[in-house]
Amino acid sequence: MTAPKKLFIKTYGCQMNVYDSERMAEALGGQGYVETKTADDADMILLNTCHIREKAAEKVYSELGRFKGLKAEKPDLKIGVAGCVAQAEGEEIMRRQPLVDLVVGPQSYHRLPELEAKTRTGEKALDTDFPEEDKFEKLKSRPKAKRGPTAFLTVQEGCDKFCAFCVVPYTRGAEVSRPVDRILTEARDLVERGVREITLLGQNVNAYHGAGADGSDWSLAQLIWALDKVDGLERIRFTTSHPNDMTDDLIEAHGACAKLMPYLHLPVQSGSDKILKRMNRSHTAESYLRVIERIRAARPDILLSGDFIVGFPEETEADFQATLDLVEEVNYGYAYSFKYSTRPGTPAAERAQVDEAESSERLQRLQALITRQQRAIQDAMVGRDVSVLFEKPGRIDGQMVGKSDYLHSVHVRDAGKEIGEIARVRIVESVTNSLAGVILK
Ligand code: 5AD
Ligand code: SF4
Repeated sequence: MTAPKKLFIKTYGCQMNVYDSERMAEALGGQGYVETKTADDADMILLNTCHIREKAAEKVYSELGRFKGLKAEKPDLKIGVAGCVAQAEGEEIMRRQPLVDLVVGPQSYHRLPELEAKTRTGEKALDTDFPEEDKFEKLKSRPKAKRGPTAFLTVQEGCDKFCAFCVVPYTRGAEVSRPVDRILTEARDLVERGVREITLLGQNVNAYHGAGADGSDWSLAQLIWALDKVDGLERIRFTTSHPNDMTDDLIEAHGACAKLMPYLHLPVQSGSDKILKRMNRSHTAESYLRVIERIRAARPDILLSGDFIVGFPEETEADFQATLDLVEEVNYGYAYSFKYSTRPGTPAAERAQVDEAESSERLQRLQALITRQQRAIQDAMVGRDVSVLFEKPGRIDGQMVGKSDYLHSVHVRDAGKEIGEIARVRIVESVTNSLAGVILK
């Protein structure tokens, strides 16, 4: 018997890449690979890349350069690049870095076994097509091994919105939704393996419109209601959403579906209508605030999170002030803010850039405000009763750590609970990045 080959996957970027990496590891499992935690003893290294941050491709090239020594020692070592940089750069990767054996775009993972086989004959393998088929359907089904209580499940990929700053429509392609039955089968399988909470993933997850069993297009809300009926599944979340796709049925589900957690990530990017227009966001600050109002009417305790870009081309101090005003009005429990940076090939890349120092200063001001809000909302949890899904033991003996319905990290001493259990917990203290609680009998 030959020893299994070792696969090292390094994942960058979003949760969708985390999900994709798991599926790639399973697909390569069928080719005799087991995962390893270090590059040093790997027979195959796969970088699952992200293109959303600045100079993403350059960072991948320098990372690849670091494998030169390893490849010289082990000529049979295969090196692959997957993800959004693979999609954006394509063949160029092999031209610039000849040690790369395999380049595979996010829509072609089901072809990974063939591509890997090709590299074994010493050939280079490249696939960055956008095929029509469901890549997950073609990947080997998940093995039945037990797993942790939370999981991601990709239900929708790609985006047709073309925000002026964003590479997603180019790297992940047009919006595609997976059919309902495949998602439900995957969800039931995850539950059998110990999963209690599923986060539905999509770049534009609330634009979900997959084919239902009856042949009609289902909305995300319909999908959530179908998942609500899966026994053993206790919690449902979804990310990331676009404000324009917050349909009535989805807003209602937030008030009516007990398994749908009171947390919503709803990026707005800017509070200035002028900038939103230049960003091609197709909503205004006012229409966003109205959506928030309706969500809060359906689920008053919902915790909101958002994404912001500061220093977008032509952003003035007044535009930035409008963003601060919007943040004040919404009151976010979490938020992610970024300094605008150009992505070659996107419309905004051609425009006059805001001064770097100015952008940095705005980012600091925005982050200070967000941190204050985040902290106040977290502190206000003290004295409240929440439900906690325990995910792992804490650092102290007998302590367990999990997430509340609102996604706050909660630790409980002498919890007497197992991983995967959900308990009612009274919050007694708010510390830097988490809450402390006691089990309610
Ligand atoms: N510059 C800065 N931030 C960006 N994002 C996407 N593209 C860019 C860019 N070119 C941010 C957006 C998005 C999040 C995932 O990353 O806020 O919602
Ligand atoms: Fe990118 Fe999101 Fe805009 Fe789509 S909606 S283009 S993924 S920022």
